[in-house]
Amino acid sequence: MGFKIGVIGSGKGSNFQAIADAIGKGRLDGVEISVVLSDVKDAFILERAKKMGIKSVYLNPGNFKTKLAQDSEQEYIRVLKENNVDLVVLAGFMRMIKKNMLDAFPHKIINIHPSLLPSFPGLASFKQAYEYGVKITGCTVHFVDEGMDTGPIIGQRVVPILSDDSPKTVHEKIQKEEHILYPACIRVISQGKLEIIGRRVIMEVYDKELNNLL
Ligand code: GRF
Repeated sequence: MGFKIGVIGSGKGSNFQAIADAIGKGRLDGVEISVVLSDVKDAFILERAKKMGIKSVYLNPGNFKTKLAQDSEQEYIRVLKENNVDLVVLAGFMRMIKKNMLDAFPHKIINIHPSLLPSFPGLASFKQAYEYGVKITGCTVHFVDEGMDTGPIIGQRVVPILSDDSPKTVHEKIQKEEHILYPACIRVISQGKLEIIGRRVIMEVYDKELNNLL
């Protein structure tokens, strides 16, 4: 039996693409994408999934801007369960995950964030980092908890901010690193090689796993 992931995204889906490509290249042994969900009807992530022959579903998020309405949340949970998802992978999903969903998938929801957390949580983090003037930033994959980008950190990669960068070029560099980091983290999780002690995520073979994907 494979390790099934469900991907949820609101936007262009380049991280989803990177994960699908890594699977296609045989780098994520046993991992399969069983469903892609979006809260945005015409999101490109759904297009991409369709083209790849992966089940893709738009699910109405309800009337809130920053979270799913309660009945919508139930529907997301139902579809993920129906597709036997072992891990929920947030890839550019622009809403907070609330308690019902966290309880339905304990320590089984991960997110990718475009900064080195705990610096610059929230929106447009690459821009926040650029404007703050930090000289290095990067991306973070973390477990999702009830806070905003606060869950235990699984993996990070670093990006320098140089004098001739703009928020756009910083984001581009970060996305390149995201596309390496996210598949690598999913592989480690799918192989059960990780343990959470307090906030610390312990992974014996983490560095090796990452290098294998470079
Ligand atoms: C990424 O930069 C990710 O860090 C953030 O949203 C963006 C999604 O990009 N959470 P994409 O839709 O995967 O291209």
